[in-house]
Amino acid sequence: MTSKHPFRGRSIAVSADLSVDEQRYLYQKTREFKEAWTHGGDLSPFRIEDPQLSVYLMFFEDSTRTKESFRNAAQFHNVAVNIFDAKNSSITKSESIVDTIKMLFGYSQRSIFILRTRMEGVCRALQEELGRYAEQIGREAPVFINGGDGRHEHPTQEYLDEFTFLEQRQWDDSHIHLALIGDLLHGRTVHSKVDGLKAFKEVKVDLVAPLELALPDYYEKRMKANGFEVEKYESLDKYMASGKLSDCWYFTRLQLERMGEEILKKEFQLRKAVTFDQKWTKLIQDGTRFYHPLPRHREKSVIPTFLDRTPLNGWDGQSINGYFTRTIELAICAGWLGSDFSGRGLPEETRDESFIHEEPVTRITQVQDRFKVGIKPVDNGVVIDHIAKGYSPEEIWHRIDKIRRILNLNCGSSHGVFHSEQSDKTFKGIISLPDVMRIEKYDLKKLAAVSPGCTVNIISKQSVKEKYRLSMPPQIFKFEEISCKNPECVTFPAACQHVPPFFYNSGEKIFTCRYCGKDHEYREIWDI
Ligand code: NCD
Repeated sequence: MTSKHPFRGRSIAVSADLSVDEQRYLYQKTREFKEAWTHGGDLSPFRIEDPQLSVYLMFFEDSTRTKESFRNAAQFHNVAVNIFDAKNSSITKSESIVDTIKMLFGYSQRSIFILRTRMEGVCRALQEELGRYAEQIGREAPVFINGGDGRHEHPTQEYLDEFTFLEQRQWDDSHIHLALIGDLLHGRTVHSKVDGLKAFKEVKVDLVAPLELALPDYYEKRMKANGFEVEKYESLDKYMASGKLSDCWYFTRLQLERMGEEILKKEFQLRKAVTFDQKWTKLIQDGTRFYHPLPRHREKSVIPTFLDRTPLNGWDGQSINGYFTRTIELAICAGWLGSDFSGRGLPEETRDESFIHEEPVTRITQVQDRFKVGIKPVDNGVVIDHIAKGYSPEEIWHRIDKIRRILNLNCGSSHGVFHSEQSDKTFKGIISLPDVMRIEKYDLKKLAAVSPGCTVNIISKQSVKEKYRLSMPPQIFKFEEISCKNPECVTFPAACQHVPPFFYNSGEKIFTCRYCGKDHEYREIWDI
Protein backbone atom coordinates (compact mmCIF):
# COMPACT_ATOMS: atom_id res chain seq x y z
CA MET A 1 0.00 0.00 0.00
CA THR A 2 1.39 3.38 -0.99
CA SER A 3 0.16 5.05 2.22
CA LYS A 4 2.40 2.77 4.31
CA HIS A 5 5.59 3.78 2.56
CA PRO A 6 7.45 6.15 4.89
CA PHE A 7 8.62 8.52 2.13
CA ARG A 8 6.46 8.09 -0.94
CA GLY A 9 4.74 11.34 -1.86
CA ARG A 10 6.58 13.41 0.74
CA SER A 11 7.57 16.95 -0.20
CA ILE A 12 10.71 18.73 0.98
CA ALA A 13 10.02 22.43 1.48
CA VAL A 14 12.41 22.96 4.41
CA SER A 15 15.20 20.85 5.86
CA ALA A 16 13.00 19.84 8.82
CA ASP A 17 10.63 18.10 6.40
CA LEU A 18 12.76 15.02 6.95
CA SER A 19 13.17 13.98 10.56
CA VAL A 20 16.70 13.55 11.88
CA ASP A 21 16.43 9.76 11.49
CA GLU A 22 15.12 10.18 7.96
CA GLN A 23 18.02 12.47 7.11
CA ARG A 24 20.43 9.86 8.47
CA TYR A 25 18.73 7.25 6.31
CA LEU A 26 19.23 9.53 3.29
CA TYR A 27 22.95 9.87 4.11
CA GLN A 28 23.35 6.12 4.56
CA LYS A 29 21.73 5.32 1.21
CA THR A 30 23.71 8.10 -0.47
CA ARG A 31 26.89 6.64 0.94
CA GLU A 32 26.01 3.20 -0.45
CA PHE A 33 25.11 4.71 -3.82
CA LYS A 34 28.27 6.79 -4.02
CA GLU A 35 30.41 3.78 -3.14
CA ALA A 36 28.75 1.63 -5.79
CA TRP A 37 29.00 4.45 -8.34
CA THR A 38 32.68 5.12 -7.56
CA HIS A 39 33.76 1.47 -7.55
CA GLY A 40 31.70 0.19 -10.44
CA GLY A 41 29.13 -1.60 -8.25
CA ASP A 42 25.56 -2.48 -9.13
CA LEU A 43 23.52 0.71 -9.38
CA SER A 44 20.23 -0.91 -10.30
CA PRO A 45 18.84 -1.08 -6.73
CA PHE A 46 19.01 2.73 -6.60
CA ARG A 47 17.40 3.40 -9.97
CA ILE A 48 13.69 4.26 -10.15
CA GLU A 49 12.10 2.21 -12.92
CA ASP A 50 8.90 4.10 -13.53
CA PRO A 51 8.30 5.67 -16.94
CA GLN A 52 5.00 7.02 -15.58
CA LEU A 53 6.92 9.31 -13.27
CA SER A 54 7.81 12.80 -14.47
CA VAL A 55 10.41 15.06 -12.92
CA TYR A 56 9.87 18.75 -13.65
CA LEU A 57 12.69 21.20 -13.13
CA MET A 58 11.22 24.66 -12.67
CA PHE A 59 13.88 27.27 -12.03
CA PHE A 60 12.63 30.83 -11.78
CA GLU A 61 15.97 32.02 -10.39
CA ASP A 62 19.36 31.27 -11.95
CA SER A 63 21.06 28.05 -11.01
CA THR A 64 23.93 25.84 -12.11
CA ARG A 65 24.60 23.22 -9.48
CA THR A 66 21.15 22.60 -8.08
CA LYS A 67 19.55 22.46 -11.51
CA GLU A 68 22.25 20.39 -13.20
CA SER A 69 22.71 17.93 -10.36
CA PHE A 70 18.95 17.37 -10.19
CA ARG A 71 18.78 17.05 -13.98
CA ASN A 72 21.57 14.46 -13.98
CA ALA A 73 20.03 12.69 -10.99
CA ALA A 74 16.66 12.54 -12.75
CA GLN A 75 18.34 11.25 -15.91
CA PHE A 76 19.99 8.48 -13.93
CA HIS A 77 16.51 7.24 -13.10
CA ASN A 78 14.28 5.74 -15.72
CA VAL A 79 11.72 8.56 -15.56
CA ALA A 80 10.62 11.41 -17.83
CA VAL A 81 12.67 14.58 -17.29
CA ASN A 82 11.20 17.98 -18.19
CA ILE A 83 12.94 21.30 -18.03
CA PHE A 84 10.34 24.02 -17.63
CA ASP A 85 11.09 27.17 -19.60
CA ALA A 86 10.38 29.55 -16.73
CA LYS A 87 11.49 32.72 -18.48
CA ASN A 88 9.12 32.23 -21.43
CA SER A 89 6.14 30.81 -19.57
CA SER A 90 2.70 32.20 -18.82
CA ILE A 91 3.98 33.19 -15.38
CA THR A 92 5.30 36.25 -17.23
CA LYS A 93 1.68 36.81 -18.34
CA SER A 94 0.74 37.01 -14.66
CA GLU A 95 -0.41 33.43 -14.28
CA SER A 96 -0.36 32.13 -10.70
CA ILE A 97 2.04 29.32 -9.92
CA VAL A 98 -0.81 27.08 -8.75
CA ASP A 99 -2.52 27.35 -12.13
CA THR A 100 0.70 26.49 -13.96
CA ILE A 101 1.43 23.47 -11.80
CA LYS A 102 -2.12 22.13 -11.94
CA MET A 103 -1.76 21.85 -15.69
CA LEU A 104 1.67 20.18 -15.64
CA PHE A 105 0.42 17.79 -12.98
CA GLY A 106 -2.28 16.67 -15.43
CA TYR A 107 0.32 15.52 -17.96
CA SER A 108 1.74 12.58 -15.98
CA GLN A 109 0.54 9.79 -13.76
CA ARG A 110 2.99 10.80 -11.06
CA SER A 111 5.10 13.93 -10.75
CA ILE A 112 7.96 15.41 -8.81
CA PHE A 113 8.42 19.17 -9.14
CA ILE A 114 11.72 20.77 -8.22
CA LEU A 115 11.37 24.50 -7.86
CA ARG A 116 13.65 27.46 -7.35
CA THR A 117 11.84 30.72 -6.79
CA ARG A 118 12.47 34.17 -5.46
CA MET A 119 9.13 33.90 -3.70
CA GLU A 120 9.44 32.21 -0.30
CA GLY A 121 7.31 29.34 0.96
CA VAL A 122 6.15 28.27 -2.51
CA CYS A 123 6.73 24.53 -2.08
CA ARG A 124 4.71 24.33 1.13
CA ALA A 125 1.85 26.25 -0.48
CA LEU A 126 1.90 24.02 -3.57
CA GLN A 127 2.15 20.86 -1.51
CA GLU A 128 -1.03 21.85 0.33
CA GLU A 129 -2.98 23.19 -2.61
CA LEU A 130 -2.09 20.44 -5.08
CA GLY A 131 -2.53 17.86 -2.32
CA ARG A 132 -6.14 18.99 -1.94
CA TYR A 133 -6.65 19.12 -5.69
CA ALA A 134 -5.21 15.61 -6.20
CA GLU A 135 -7.51 14.23 -3.52
CA GLN A 136 -10.48 15.93 -5.09
CA ILE A 137 -9.82 14.34 -8.49
CA GLY A 138 -8.68 10.99 -7.05
CA ARG A 139 -5.01 11.18 -8.07
CA GLU A 140 -1.74 10.60 -6.24
CA ALA A 141 -0.47 13.93 -4.86
CA PRO A 142 2.64 15.35 -6.54
CA VAL A 143 5.93 15.84 -4.70
CA PHE A 144 7.50 19.29 -4.35
CA ILE A 145 11.17 19.77 -3.68
CA ASN A 146 12.49 23.20 -2.80
CA GLY A 147 15.62 24.03 -4.80
CA GLY A 148 16.00 27.35 -2.94
CA ASP A 149 13.27 29.90 -2.18
CA GLY A 150 14.48 33.48 -1.84
CA ARG A 151 16.33 34.01 1.43
CA HIS A 152 14.35 31.31 3.15
CA GLU A 153 15.69 27.75 2.82
CA HIS A 154 17.61 25.41 0.56
CA PRO A 155 17.01 21.98 2.08
CA THR A 156 18.61 19.83 -0.61
CA GLN A 157 21.80 21.92 -0.40
CA GLU A 158 21.61 21.35 3.32
CA TYR A 159 21.44 17.58 2.93
CA LEU A 160 24.42 17.55 0.61
CA ASP A 161 26.34 19.78 3.03
CA GLU A 162 25.64 17.50 5.99
CA PHE A 163 26.53 14.45 3.92
CA THR A 164 29.84 16.13 3.08
CA PHE A 165 30.57 17.03 6.72
CA LEU A 166 29.86 13.44 7.76
CA GLU A 167 32.13 12.17 5.02
CA GLN A 168 34.92 14.47 6.29
CA ARG A 169 34.43 12.98 9.78
CA GLN A 170 34.38 9.39 8.51
CA TRP A 171 30.68 9.14 9.40
CA ASP A 172 31.18 10.05 13.04
CA ASP A 173 28.04 12.04 13.90
CA SER A 174 28.84 12.59 17.58
CA HIS A 175 30.04 16.18 17.24
CA ILE A 176 30.59 19.02 14.82
CA HIS A 177 32.23 22.41 15.26
CA LEU A 178 31.28 24.49 12.24
CA ALA A 179 32.14 28.07 11.26
CA LEU A 180 29.52 29.83 9.14
CA ILE A 181 31.14 32.76 7.38
CA GLY A 182 29.79 35.41 5.02
CA ASP A 183 26.32 36.60 4.18
CA LEU A 184 24.36 34.89 6.92
CA LEU A 185 21.49 37.33 6.53
CA HIS A 186 20.46 36.43 2.98
CA GLY A 187 22.07 32.98 2.68
CA ARG A 188 19.32 30.37 2.53
CA THR A 189 21.86 27.53 2.73
CA VAL A 190 22.85 28.88 6.14
CA HIS A 191 19.23 29.16 7.31
CA SER A 192 18.62 25.51 6.47
CA LYS A 193 21.46 24.57 8.80
CA VAL A 194 19.33 25.42 11.84
CA ASP A 195 17.55 22.08 11.43
CA GLY A 196 20.00 20.18 9.23
CA LEU A 197 22.82 20.29 11.75
CA LYS A 198 20.69 18.22 14.11
CA ALA A 199 22.13 15.24 12.21
CA PHE A 200 25.02 15.69 14.67
CA LYS A 201 24.51 14.93 18.33
CA GLU A 202 26.58 17.86 19.62
CA VAL A 203 26.83 21.06 17.65
CA LYS A 204 28.98 24.15 18.08
CA VAL A 205 28.54 26.96 15.59
CA ASP A 206 30.73 30.02 15.08
CA LEU A 207 28.86 32.77 13.25
CA VAL A 208 31.30 35.02 11.44
CA ALA A 209 29.61 38.01 9.80
CA PRO A 210 29.56 41.79 10.14
CA LEU A 211 26.42 43.14 11.77
CA GLU A 212 24.92 44.14 8.41
CA LEU A 213 25.05 40.50 7.28
CA ALA A 214 24.39 38.81 10.63
CA LEU A 215 22.19 35.75 10.93
CA PRO A 216 18.61 36.91 11.65
CA ASP A 217 17.80 36.71 15.30
CA TYR A 218 15.13 34.07 14.95
CA TYR A 219 17.51 31.61 13.30
CA GLU A 220 20.07 32.17 16.04
CA LYS A 221 17.40 31.63 18.70
CA ARG A 222 16.29 28.42 17.03
CA MET A 223 19.88 27.19 16.93
CA LYS A 224 20.14 27.75 20.67
CA ALA A 225 16.76 26.11 21.24
CA ASN A 226 18.12 23.08 19.35
CA GLY A 227 20.91 22.93 21.92
CA PHE A 228 23.70 24.29 19.69
CA GLU A 229 26.48 26.26 21.29
CA VAL A 230 26.72 29.54 19.38
CA GLU A 231 29.60 32.07 19.27
CA LYS A 232 29.60 35.25 17.21
CA TYR A 233 32.39 37.21 15.53
CA GLU A 234 32.08 40.32 13.39
CA SER A 235 34.95 39.47 11.06
CA LEU A 236 37.43 36.78 10.18
CA ASP A 237 40.11 38.98 11.73
CA LYS A 238 38.37 38.68 15.10
CA TYR A 239 37.70 34.98 14.57
CA MET A 240 41.38 34.30 13.88
CA ALA A 241 42.32 36.22 17.03
CA SER A 242 39.98 34.07 19.14
CA GLY A 243 42.27 31.05 18.75
CA LYS A 244 39.22 28.75 18.92
CA LEU A 245 39.01 27.74 15.27
CA SER A 246 36.76 25.10 13.81
CA ASP A 247 38.01 22.42 11.43
CA CYS A 248 34.99 22.87 9.17
CA TRP A 249 34.53 26.30 7.55
CA TYR A 250 31.44 27.04 5.53
CA PHE A 251 31.72 30.21 3.44
CA THR A 252 28.89 31.90 1.59
CA ARG A 253 29.08 34.61 -1.03
CA LEU A 254 27.67 38.10 -0.60
CA GLN A 255 24.20 37.89 -2.11
CA LEU A 256 24.36 41.26 -3.84
CA GLU A 257 21.14 40.62 -5.75
CA ARG A 258 19.18 40.54 -2.48
CA MET A 259 20.80 43.53 -0.79
CA GLY A 260 19.29 46.94 -0.31
CA GLU A 261 21.16 50.07 -1.39
CA GLU A 262 22.38 50.84 2.13
CA ILE A 263 24.18 47.53 2.48
CA LEU A 264 25.45 47.60 -1.09
CA LYS A 265 27.29 50.86 -0.42
CA LYS A 266 29.44 49.00 2.11
CA GLU A 267 30.19 46.06 -0.18
CA PHE A 268 33.98 46.50 -0.09
CA GLN A 269 34.34 46.52 3.67
CA LEU A 270 31.74 43.77 4.20
CA ARG A 271 33.49 41.52 1.72
CA LYS A 272 36.84 42.18 3.37
CA ALA A 273 35.46 41.15 6.77
CA VAL A 274 34.59 37.65 5.49
CA THR A 275 37.35 37.00 2.94
CA PHE A 276 40.15 34.61 3.80
CA ASP A 277 43.60 36.20 3.82
CA GLN A 278 46.75 34.30 2.84
CA LYS A 279 48.51 35.39 6.06
CA TRP A 280 46.17 33.13 8.06
CA THR A 281 47.03 29.91 6.23
CA LYS A 282 49.60 28.84 8.85
CA LEU A 283 47.07 29.19 11.67
CA ILE A 284 44.68 26.62 10.23
CA GLN A 285 44.79 23.24 11.96
CA ASP A 286 45.52 20.07 9.95
CA GLY A 287 42.53 18.24 8.57
CA THR A 288 40.50 21.46 8.22
CA ARG A 289 38.26 21.77 5.16
CA PHE A 290 36.71 24.83 3.61
CA TYR A 291 33.27 24.51 2.04
CA HIS A 292 31.07 26.79 -0.03
CA PRO A 293 27.70 26.12 -1.66
CA LEU A 294 29.11 27.95 -4.73
CA PRO A 295 29.13 29.83 -7.04
CA ARG A 296 32.21 31.85 -6.12
CA HIS A 297 32.69 35.35 -7.43
CA ARG A 298 35.37 34.96 -10.10
CA GLU A 299 37.27 38.12 -9.08
CA LYS A 300 36.39 38.71 -5.46
CA SER A 301 35.69 35.35 -3.89
CA VAL A 302 35.62 35.00 -0.13
CA ILE A 303 37.67 31.82 -0.69
CA PRO A 304 40.52 33.12 -2.87
CA THR A 305 41.69 30.90 -5.72
CA PHE A 306 45.18 30.40 -4.26
CA LEU A 307 43.50 27.84 -1.98
CA ASP A 308 42.12 25.74 -4.83
CA ARG A 309 44.96 23.26 -4.96
CA THR A 310 45.47 22.96 -1.20
CA PRO A 311 44.04 20.28 1.09
CA LEU A 312 41.64 22.94 2.41
CA ASN A 313 39.59 22.59 -0.74
CA GLY A 314 36.46 20.74 0.34
CA TRP A 315 34.05 22.70 -1.87
CA ASP A 316 34.66 20.89 -5.17
CA GLY A 317 33.86 17.48 -3.68
CA GLN A 318 30.96 19.04 -1.80
CA SER A 319 29.30 20.28 -4.96
CA ILE A 320 29.61 16.85 -6.63
CA ASN A 321 27.93 15.27 -3.62
CA GLY A 322 24.83 17.17 -4.76
CA TYR A 323 24.43 14.61 -7.53
CA PHE A 324 24.55 11.66 -5.12
CA THR A 325 22.27 13.06 -2.44
CA ARG A 326 19.72 14.31 -4.98
CA THR A 327 19.62 10.97 -6.80
CA ILE A 328 18.63 9.36 -3.53
CA GLU A 329 16.19 12.15 -2.59
CA LEU A 330 14.28 11.49 -5.82
CA ALA A 331 14.33 7.75 -5.15
CA ILE A 332 12.92 8.07 -1.64
CA CYS A 333 10.26 10.68 -2.47
CA ALA A 334 9.16 8.48 -5.38
CA GLY A 335 8.83 5.59 -2.92
CA TRP A 336 11.47 3.56 -4.73
CA LEU A 337 13.80 3.45 -1.74
CA GLY A 338 12.86 3.74 1.90
CA SER A 339 10.66 0.76 2.72
CA ASP A 340 13.49 -0.54 4.96
CA PHE A 341 13.55 2.69 7.00
CA SER A 342 13.04 1.92 10.66
CA GLY A 343 13.71 5.14 12.58
CA ARG A 344 11.51 7.88 13.88
CA GLY A 345 9.54 9.90 11.34
CA LEU A 346 8.00 13.34 11.71
CA PRO A 347 5.49 13.89 14.51
CA GLU A 348 1.86 14.20 13.40
CA GLU A 349 0.85 17.79 12.78
CA THR A 350 -1.96 18.81 15.11
CA ARG A 351 -4.21 21.83 15.11
CA ASP A 352 -4.06 22.90 18.72
CA GLU A 353 -7.06 25.00 19.76
CA SER A 354 -6.36 25.31 23.48
CA PHE A 355 -6.57 29.05 23.96
CA ILE A 356 -9.91 29.39 25.78
CA HIS A 357 -9.74 28.46 29.44
CA GLU A 358 -12.92 28.37 31.42
CA GLU A 359 -12.39 29.92 34.83
CA PRO A 360 -14.52 28.94 37.80
CA VAL A 361 -17.03 31.55 38.82
CA THR A 362 -16.34 31.08 42.50
CA ARG A 363 -19.20 33.18 43.74
CA ILE A 364 -22.02 34.94 42.07
CA THR A 365 -20.26 38.23 41.56
CA GLN A 366 -22.34 41.33 41.70
CA VAL A 367 -21.56 43.31 38.60
CA GLN A 368 -22.11 46.62 40.34
CA ASP A 369 -19.13 45.89 42.59
CA ARG A 370 -16.81 44.80 39.91
CA PHE A 371 -17.31 47.21 37.05
CA LYS A 372 -18.48 50.29 38.81
CA VAL A 373 -15.72 52.77 37.92
CA GLY A 374 -16.61 54.84 34.93
CA ILE A 375 -18.58 52.17 33.07
CA LYS A 376 -22.28 51.70 33.40
CA PRO A 377 -22.72 48.17 34.84
CA VAL A 378 -24.46 45.74 32.52
CA ASP A 379 -27.39 43.68 33.67
CA ASN A 380 -27.06 41.23 30.81
CA GLY A 381 -24.22 41.13 28.34
CA VAL A 382 -20.55 40.50 27.82
CA VAL A 383 -17.68 42.28 29.54
CA ILE A 384 -14.20 41.93 28.13
CA ASP A 385 -11.88 42.62 31.04
CA HIS A 386 -8.12 42.72 31.73
CA ILE A 387 -7.34 44.08 28.28
CA ALA A 388 -3.58 44.67 27.97
CA LYS A 389 -3.32 44.68 31.74
CA GLY A 390 -0.03 46.13 32.96
CA TYR A 391 0.69 48.07 29.77
CA SER A 392 0.73 51.86 29.50
CA PRO A 393 -2.68 53.58 29.22
CA GLU A 394 -1.72 54.58 25.68
CA GLU A 395 -1.09 50.99 24.66
CA ILE A 396 -4.33 49.88 26.34
CA TRP A 397 -6.34 52.47 24.38
CA HIS A 398 -4.66 51.29 21.25
CA ARG A 399 -5.61 47.68 22.05
CA ILE A 400 -9.22 48.58 22.84
CA ASP A 401 -9.43 50.36 19.52
CA LYS A 402 -7.99 47.35 17.74
CA ILE A 403 -10.38 44.91 19.41
CA ARG A 404 -13.34 47.08 18.46
CA ARG A 405 -12.27 47.25 14.84
CA ILE A 406 -11.25 43.62 14.46
CA LEU A 407 -14.41 42.27 16.14
CA ASN A 408 -16.50 44.88 14.42
CA LEU A 409 -18.05 46.01 17.71
CA ASN A 410 -20.31 48.73 16.42
CA CYS A 411 -23.12 48.06 18.86
CA GLY A 412 -24.23 50.22 21.80
CA SER A 413 -21.47 49.71 24.37
CA SER A 414 -18.85 51.41 26.47
CA HIS A 415 -15.16 51.03 27.17
CA GLY A 416 -12.34 52.60 29.08
CA VAL A 417 -8.95 52.35 30.76
CA PHE A 418 -9.02 51.80 34.52
CA HIS A 419 -6.85 50.94 37.45
CA SER A 420 -6.49 47.22 37.86
CA GLU A 421 -8.33 45.94 40.97
CA GLN A 422 -5.17 44.78 42.70
CA SER A 423 -3.10 47.87 42.31
CA ASP A 424 -3.26 51.59 41.80
CA LYS A 425 -0.24 51.51 39.57
CA THR A 426 -1.33 49.07 36.91
CA PHE A 427 -3.97 49.73 34.32
CA LYS A 428 -6.22 47.56 32.22
CA GLY A 429 -8.91 48.04 29.61
CA ILE A 430 -12.57 47.06 29.79
CA ILE A 431 -15.16 46.83 27.03
CA SER A 432 -18.71 46.36 28.12
CA LEU A 433 -21.31 45.07 25.66
CA PRO A 434 -24.83 45.16 27.07
CA ASP A 435 -27.29 42.68 25.63
CA VAL A 436 -24.63 40.79 23.65
CA MET A 437 -25.04 37.34 25.15
CA ARG A 438 -22.25 35.40 23.50
CA ILE A 439 -19.13 35.75 21.41
CA GLU A 440 -18.59 33.17 18.66
CA LYS A 441 -15.51 30.95 18.86
CA TYR A 442 -14.17 32.54 15.68
CA ASP A 443 -14.26 35.96 17.37
CA LEU A 444 -12.91 34.58 20.64
CA LYS A 445 -9.91 33.37 18.72
CA LYS A 446 -9.39 36.77 17.17
CA LEU A 447 -9.74 38.36 20.58
CA ALA A 448 -7.24 35.92 22.05
CA ALA A 449 -4.77 36.78 19.32
CA VAL A 450 -5.19 40.53 19.65
CA SER A 451 -5.31 40.68 23.41
CA PRO A 452 -4.05 37.52 25.09
CA GLY A 453 -4.64 37.46 28.83
CA CYS A 454 -7.99 39.20 28.66
CA THR A 455 -11.09 37.67 30.20
CA VAL A 456 -14.58 37.35 28.79
CA ASN A 457 -17.39 37.52 31.34
CA ILE A 458 -20.88 36.47 30.37
CA ILE A 459 -23.26 38.37 32.62
CA SER A 460 -26.85 37.51 33.17
CA LYS A 461 -29.22 39.18 35.63
CA GLN A 462 -26.37 41.24 37.06
CA SER A 463 -24.21 38.20 37.88
CA VAL A 464 -21.18 36.70 36.20
CA LYS A 465 -22.39 33.34 34.94
CA GLU A 466 -19.41 32.25 32.84
CA LYS A 467 -15.87 33.45 32.68
CA TYR A 468 -13.14 32.63 30.17
CA ARG A 469 -9.50 33.59 30.14
CA LEU A 470 -7.96 33.75 26.71
CA SER A 471 -4.36 32.90 25.99
CA MET A 472 -2.41 33.34 22.80
CA PRO A 473 -3.72 30.80 20.26
CA PRO A 474 -1.05 28.32 19.16
CA GLN A 475 -1.99 28.88 15.52
CA ILE A 476 -3.68 31.76 13.74
CA PHE A 477 -5.23 31.33 10.30
CA LYS A 478 -8.44 31.90 8.36
CA PHE A 479 -8.76 35.56 9.39
CA GLU A 480 -9.14 38.12 6.68
CA GLU A 481 -7.41 40.82 8.72
CA ILE A 482 -4.01 39.09 8.98
CA SER A 483 -1.11 38.87 6.57
CA CYS A 484 2.56 37.95 6.52
CA LYS A 485 4.65 41.10 6.34
CA ASN A 486 7.44 39.58 4.27
CA PRO A 487 7.00 41.00 0.73
CA GLU A 488 8.70 37.89 -0.69
CA CYS A 489 6.31 35.46 1.00
CA VAL A 490 3.96 33.43 -1.18
CA THR A 491 1.10 34.58 1.07
CA PHE A 492 1.95 38.30 0.79
CA PRO A 493 -1.24 39.91 -0.55
CA ALA A 494 0.51 41.74 -3.40
CA ALA A 495 1.98 38.46 -4.68
CA CYS A 496 -1.61 37.53 -5.63
CA GLN A 497 -1.00 33.80 -5.25
CA HIS A 498 -4.18 33.50 -3.13
CA VAL A 499 -2.50 31.47 -0.41
CA PRO A 500 -4.15 32.26 2.94
CA PRO A 501 -1.73 33.20 5.72
CA PHE A 502 -1.06 30.85 8.60
CA PHE A 503 1.01 31.59 11.70
CA TYR A 504 2.37 29.45 14.51
CA ASN A 505 2.87 30.87 17.94
CA SER A 506 6.53 30.03 18.40
CA GLY A 507 7.39 32.01 21.49
CA GLU A 508 5.62 34.11 23.99
CA LYS A 509 4.50 36.79 21.56
CA ILE A 510 6.07 35.62 18.36
CA PHE A 511 4.16 34.33 15.36
CA THR A 512 6.04 32.51 12.65
CA CYS A 513 4.71 32.31 9.12
CA ARG A 514 4.12 28.69 8.15
CA TYR A 515 5.34 29.42 4.62
CA CYS A 516 8.34 31.77 4.68
CA GLY A 517 9.36 31.28 8.33
CA LYS A 518 9.33 35.01 9.13
CA ASP A 519 8.77 35.86 12.78
CA HIS A 520 6.23 38.56 13.64
CA GLU A 521 5.45 40.31 16.85
CA TYR A 522 1.83 39.42 17.46
CA ARG A 523 0.65 42.96 16.79
CA GLU A 524 2.38 42.91 13.44
CA ILE A 525 0.29 40.19 11.85
CA TRP A 526 -2.87 42.33 11.90
CA ASP A 527 -3.66 44.61 9.00
CA ILE A 528 -6.12 46.83 10.83
C1 NCD B 1 23.39 28.63 -3.32
C2 NCD B 1 21.98 29.13 -3.51
O1 NCD B 1 21.47 29.18 -4.62
O2 NCD B 1 21.39 29.44 -2.49
N1 NCD B 1 23.95 27.98 -4.42
C3 NCD B 1 23.64 26.70 -4.75
O3 NCD B 1 22.52 26.27 -4.71
N2 NCD B 1 24.66 25.91 -5.10
C4 NCD B 1 24.26 29.71 -2.78
C5 NCD B 1 24.38 30.98 -3.54
O4 NCD B 1 23.78 31.23 -4.56
O5 NCD B 1 25.15 31.80 -3.03
